[in-house]
Amino acid sequence: MKNVTSFLMALILLACQTNQKTVQPKTPVTGALGESAMVSSAHPLATKVGVDILKNGGNAFDAAIAVQFALAVVFPRAGNIGGGGFALYRMNDGSIGSLDFREKAPSASSRDMYLDESGEIVPNLSVRGHLAAGVPGSVDGMFQLHEKFGTRPMAELIQPAINLAYYGYVLTEDAAYQLNQKSEDLAVVNGDDFFLVKEDGWRAGDSIKYTELASTLVQIRDRGASGFYGGIVADQITKEMQRGGGLISKQDLLNYSSKWRTPVTGSYRGHKIISMPPPSSGGVAVLQLLQGAEGFDISSMGHNTKETIHILTELERRVYADRATHLGDPDFYDVPVDMLLDKAYNNKRFASIKKNAKTDSQEIKEGKVDVIESVETTHFSVVDPDGNAVAITTTLNSFFGCKVYVRGAGFFLNNEMDDFSSKPGVPNQFGLVGGEANAIVPEKRMLSSMTPTIVEKDAKLKMVVGTPGGSTIITSVFQTIMNVIDHGMSMQEAVNAKRIHSQWLPDVIIAEKEGVQKAVLNQLENMGHVIRFRDSMGRMDCILVREDGKLEGGADYTRGDNYAEGY
Ligand code: GLY
Repeated sequence: MKNVTSFLMALILLACQTNQKTVQPKTPVTGALGESAMVSSAHPLATKVGVDILKNGGNAFDAAIAVQFALAVVFPRAGNIGGGGFALYRMNDGSIGSLDFREKAPSASSRDMYLDESGEIVPNLSVRGHLAAGVPGSVDGMFQLHEKFGTRPMAELIQPAINLAYYGYVLTEDAAYQLNQKSEDLAVVNGDDFFLVKEDGWRAGDSIKYTELASTLVQIRDRGASGFYGGIVADQITKEMQRGGGLISKQDLLNYSSKWRTPVTGSYRGHKIISMPPPSSGGVAVLQLLQGAEGFDISSMGHNTKETIHILTELERRVYADRATHLGDPDFYDVPVDMLLDKAYNNKRFASIKKNAKTDSQEIKEGKVDVIESVETTHFSVVDPDGNAVAITTTLNSFFGCKVYVRGAGFFLNNEMDDFSSKPGVPNQFGLVGGEANAIVPEKRMLSSMTPTIVEKDAKLKMVVGTPGGSTIITSVFQTIMNVIDHGMSMQEAVNAKRIHSQWLPDVIIAEKEGVQKAVLNQLENMGHVIRFRDSMGRMDCILVREDGKLEGGADYTRGDNYAEGY
């Protein structure tokens, strides 16, 4: 009997050591299903706006534009008209493209604007307050998308946002929590009497109206992009700049223009991967990571096992080191995209990875980094009944951007200037370091990690993927693609699955709580890895075209209010 017990104990121990796959959430394993169209976004009201536009005959671009404006109202911490973003699309005929509506540095900006007299970074200057804001691109981006692909009148696409702002909507628990979390910063920048700061805090169920924002949206509806970049709204923005020592001028607003760019493409186990080119670092980095992962049998290695986490971390530390050195705005810096995506280059780059030993990040390249901050930005995905797909990631950078609420105009400005490298080797709020490629230059776009991505299989649409999360966007997109392709997960399971992240510096693995089993944790630590836990990482909004032809929305409802709906 004793022998049987010992044998059983040994079996259990062995099972614990060899079958270390993370337990995935059991229900639901399938996200929202649709026969012909799907929208997935950070907020149910924004998703519904997109679905209504599609049902009324709008295409994926019309729906995406309407969702962008709706998110500026119902998800004001990241949805925006005062920020910027990237749109990636794939038409049903297979043609692809992308629009860069990233913010730009004001013309009065300068390389050392966030440094003091002794050359040290002034804390918070690039993060909070007027000086942190770049010239917003979102409104121009929506009008450029509409001019090229829109089929419904722009007024019809903006009206739902106007209605939400004017008549108000009810706060979710998450929305109330986020407002309360940032209330101190909001009060410092906008005054104690700022209407979004409540002494006893916001609660789920409170309703909120943005009447000034409604007026601004009416200007945009009636006057087009110049209703934002000129006229009364431009006056309000520049007055706000004068009030707080910001740099955005009327000329900066008039000069702003989004830019059509050719996506970067690559392959992964028989799939075509289409993603955002620079000034996003995300597309290049995800393609590099997938090239590296293809050299390993990730499926057999299992999800979040010691082997998989170790290999992903080793790939990530090399790719993020490349990011820091080589990536920036291609209009100002000669970004070596072809080299970074070259198979021979990456094979050489990844050849030093050892299966059983960690590489120290300092051995790869020098740098000095401390903290990584929270999960911000927002992403949404749309597929229309004709099979056109749009993926948009859009941001104010930090939640509520630089916290400056443009008086009279009713919206937050971004703090995207922090995405520049203020000083080579010194980390920004996401712990990311950079150098010359991403130095501040007037009218340059700051490097981004936003990674809207589309996956094709056999020349057909397979997946639309994206998430917020600052520096963790790239690794969340990377893992979600592998979750479906290598681990056979449904879209919802792939989104639900616990994520890990590493970014060269700091030399640590960040894991979501309960994302790594104790035994795996011990093994990784024995290899020298340092693991830190975080409550949550990313908030994906993705769409999968299933084998049976149905669309499955994967919305990150376990981490946020994210919501997918199809029909
Ligand atoms: N502001 C976050 C990013 O663009 O990566």
